[in-house]
Amino acid sequence: MKGIILAGGTGTRLHPITVSVSKQLLPVGDKPMIYYPLSVLMLADIKEILLICTERDLDQFRRLLGDGSQLGVHIDYAVQNRPAGLAEAFVIGADHVGDDDVALVLGDNIFHGYHFYDLLQSNVKDVQGCVLFGYPVEDPERYGVGETDASGRLVSLEEKPARPRSDLAITGLYLYDNEVVDIAKNLRPSARGELEITDVNRNYLARGRARLVDLGRGFAWLDAGTPESLLQAAQYVRTLEERQGVRIACVEEVALRMGFIDADQCHRLGEQMSQSGYGQYVMSVAREMAP
Ligand code: TTP
Repeated sequence: MKGIILAGGTGTRLHPITVSVSKQLLPVGDKPMIYYPLSVLMLADIKEILLICTERDLDQFRRLLGDGSQLGVHIDYAVQNRPAGLAEAFVIGADHVGDDDVALVLGDNIFHGYHFYDLLQSNVKDVQGCVLFGYPVEDPERYGVGETDASGRLVSLEEKPARPRSDLAITGLYLYDNEVVDIAKNLRPSARGELEITDVNRNYLARGRARLVDLGRGFAWLDAGTPESLLQAAQYVRTLEERQGVRIACVEEVALRMGFIDADQCHRLGEQMSQSGYGQYVMSVAREMAP
């Protein structure tokens, strides 16, 4: 399976912070936002990753993540200068996807929860159609909302419904079989001129080929798109990290635990940041996991 991180957009809800800096490079706790979606793809065992961002931000993402080889993955870059919709990711990324299945994750979405690794593993293998991830929220009328039958098959999908049929908001992680590329290429732009991911999902839904996995209440899904949610996300991450002594979305640790790099390499990555608590944590994980 291939991976795409969509990290373009204009971040208007965070102006003026994002006038000159990509939203997805802003700090969430002690690390850049992009580490969170990147770690999701890595936990799903995805090593071929395309990062889509605006031309303005390309060099900064490259400076941060390079070609990914230090983490044992391969990161390519592509440009989307106008936020022409989430589904455009599959048009821009068509060559990257090739004949494979693909996971799309939004660059400002943060997922954290018990058994997330297992949940990802059990869903990424042999995707038939599409798999969406739903999160129970208090205010479903603000989101795309999905409803399932008893077997987890998606039976309805509504955008910001006045009377939601369920409380499951559709999150920014999507798994598709290879058909998604053709579906996206043939989409008509919506009234606001965008290739809407909802239209892709409706295509799968209409053919009975969409599933919705409930992430459940014991899980955290945050999107860090407004000043309030950015602060909340940072506080959430910090509280957990301080209480538990482990770090969320430490990509070096994920790479080590996934077997993408060895303990020596992990330690080297930590040494390069040894003046920060983050770097020291990376080194301590490497020492702990050394053979
Ligand atoms: P949004 O938060 O909907 O848009 P945005 O990031 O431009 O922010 P704002 O609403 O404040 O203007 O986008 C969700 C994520 O998807 C975010 O990581 C940006 C990304 N995105 C793209 O990369 N391309 C797109 O065409 C769209 C619509 C979003």
